[in-house]
Amino acid sequence: MDQDNKRVIIFDTTLRDGEQALQASLTPTQKLQIALMLEQLGVDVIEAGFPVSSPGDLQAVKLIGDSVTKSVVCGLSRCVDRDIDAVREALGHLKRYRIHTFIATSDIHVKDKLGKDFGAIIEMARASVRRARNYTDDVEFSCEDAGRTPIDNLCRMVEAAIDAGATTINIPDTVGYTLPFEFAGIIETLFNRVPNIDKAIISVHCHNDLGMATANSLSAIMKGARQIECCVNGLGERAGNCSLEEVAMGIKTRAAYLDGLHTNIISTNLARASQMIAGIANEPVPPHKAIVGSNAFAHSSGIHQDGVLKNRSTYEIITPESVGFKENNLHMTARSGRHMIKSVLDGLGYAEGTYDLNRIYERFLKLADKKGQVFDYDLEALLFFSHDEDLENQYELDQLNVISGSKGMIPTASVRLRIGKRTRTESGIGNGPVDAVFNCITRITGLKLDLTAFHISAKGQGMNSLGQVDVDVRYDGRTYHGKGLSTDVIESAALALISACNSIRRAQIIAQEKTGHASKEAN
Ligand code: KIV
Ligand code: ZN
Repeated sequence: MDQDNKRVIIFDTTLRDGEQALQASLTPTQKLQIALMLEQLGVDVIEAGFPVSSPGDLQAVKLIGDSVTKSVVCGLSRCVDRDIDAVREALGHLKRYRIHTFIATSDIHVKDKLGKDFGAIIEMARASVRRARNYTDDVEFSCEDAGRTPIDNLCRMVEAAIDAGATTINIPDTVGYTLPFEFAGIIETLFNRVPNIDKAIISVHCHNDLGMATANSLSAIMKGARQIECCVNGLGERAGNCSLEEVAMGIKTRAAYLDGLHTNIISTNLARASQMIAGIANEPVPPHKAIVGSNAFAHSSGIHQDGVLKNRSTYEIITPESVGFKENNLHMTARSGRHMIKSVLDGLGYAEGTYDLNRIYERFLKLADKKGQVFDYDLEALLFFSHDEDLENQYELDQLNVISGSKGMIPTASVRLRIGKRTRTESGIGNGPVDAVFNCITRITGLKLDLTAFHISAKGQGMNSLGQVDVDVRYDGRTYHGKGLSTDVIESAALALISACNSIRRAQIIAQEKTGHASKEAN
């Protein structure tokens, strides 16, 4: 790999360290989808799996090797001949591929796990690196649990592995034990004491048990490491690995402090990669996850919103657009200030002076206390319906029946809604009970909706918890949110959709009135 000395190689191990920590393993096709996304992200090396571990893993590594063209594909092996040969079986026909072989070097692992002495471990490492080098020019060697390895032993092992032909030496903090200055010290010592260190690229692989994985990785590149091993969304064993998006954006955002270091990561693909991998791996991204969490660019307090509206940089060190999100999120809650409300109304086209900001703000606060989050269409409704009673819901759930089960039973629902003084009932089927209920509701309301998000969560503890359903639906170019809470999640789903329908209905009345106004003015 041509190495400009300021470039940090990004070695992604989502498909190996990340995958091994999932509750259910991924299929070869899912792994391929992830690998192609990693390639689009600009990852330099993709660790595609551990071929000796199962025939399925070998097949997946081969499939990825055959499909990926830009990134180097790598397979993991212990310092065991058949492991190394399995990587060759999967990738050996390629022009370029990497064998990554590892053995533990800390006292506890050497004695208690492997039952050997350190001299024997060095010989196993030498033999394996040599074997791998007979197959490919690109060989990485890892000292597992390097973070807890006595420094003299670590120096001896690194020197021996480079001497045997390793082109990359990886220093893992396997159990996430070290602190940033300590880990930086280990890397610095290796550069000072290992005589042949300049013959290899030094890599780091930090786990996050103490929440230090990103900090440790960045402290290592300050001391000369030029490869970081990481996973998208910080997936990986136990508390996970160093998160790819955090190191990529840490390096990009603080390049000046980090001596001009850079990576090949295309940051605008980060949000998409994160969401795609979270979906395939069935590992949702926590809202507060740095860089890619749904809250990472949300501003809630009135003071913050006011600052962001004046100058985004007051509370944003990275723009959402730079990681592929569309825009920042200014949530309207009871903590929002007048400036925020005015700015949303400006965006909706309501000129200052055409409404009483103080009165709207007072009503907004009451609504925010009741609803939690207020949306732009709610604000427009406040402006339009001058009395709170006029905001009454058009649709109310009156009755709900659902029949659903296994073994080919077709989910069937019947729903009765109150619409003012009348009621209307519909029944229908669906591909699941929620779908059947939604079909009934859309038939009653006559609204052609596109469901874009559906989220269930438990509110409360254990058996007493309630099921909350949040939905987003698109209607007429706008997104509407609905929330429903009940002991029965099917009823929660119905309530959520009905709540969104009520917001749409109010927006329809406003739109009709506006056009009525426009035509009256034209007359
Ligand atoms: O954490 C670790 O030490 C590893 C090695 C196999 C690199 O995952
Ligand atoms: Zn690991």
